[in-house]
Amino acid sequence: MKSILLASNNAGKQRELLALLGDLGLEILTPAALGLDLEVAETGTTYVENAVLKAEAFGAHSGLVTLADDSGLEVDALDGAPGVYAARYAGPGATDAMRRAKLLAALAQVPAPRTARFRAVVAVYAPGCPLETFEGVCEGEIAFAERGAGGFGYDPIFYLPERGATMAELPESLKNTLSHRGRAVAAARPHLARLLR
Ligand code: IMP
Repeated sequence: MKSILLASNNAGKQRELLALLGDLGLEILTPAALGLDLEVAETGTTYVENAVLKAEAFGAHSGLVTLADDSGLEVDALDGAPGVYAARYAGPGATDAMRRAKLLAALAQVPAPRTARFRAVVAVYAPGCPLETFEGVCEGEIAFAERGAGGFGYDPIFYLPERGATMAELPESLKNTLSHRGRAVAAARPHLARLLR
């Protein structure tokens, strides 16, 4: 069985990527499963740069086909912030709940619809092959209060008007069909199938 390494220690991302790649007939490995303790500094200023940094670092260390995800949340009323810096929006050591609270406070005076989008870039590293990247976007709005207990990160405040629900209120299988990450992985699938056949 061919193997692929997920270049992420984020439990939410890992869970979704496992489901999204589950039917490819691959052994899906996490850094922890390999005892790979690697912290990659996300020094890029774009999702592509950071996804490539992570895919190359984990790929070079493991020698395995490696998939990295870099993602973020772009809020129009904040000129696209926090964007690529979404994970660091409330400073080092902050929790997802602190980041959500900071974003709701920043938008307190902004009326609906507070349009926003999640964006994900997936980078695929394979030894001896050119690195490839794939993007997915999911449009929505920032809610006025948290709703739902599913998902992770900003999901409880990311509202999907056409569903009448936040991302955290959707079953994970439905989130995966419409999310930025689901779309980026869908775009990457033909490449992964070619690499791993
Ligand atoms: P990074 O890709 O490790 O730089 O982190 C992405 C940031 O965006 C983190 O704060 C995540 O919690 C957030 N994020 C990425 N994807 C999602 C998602 O699907 N739902 C909620 N938050 C997300």
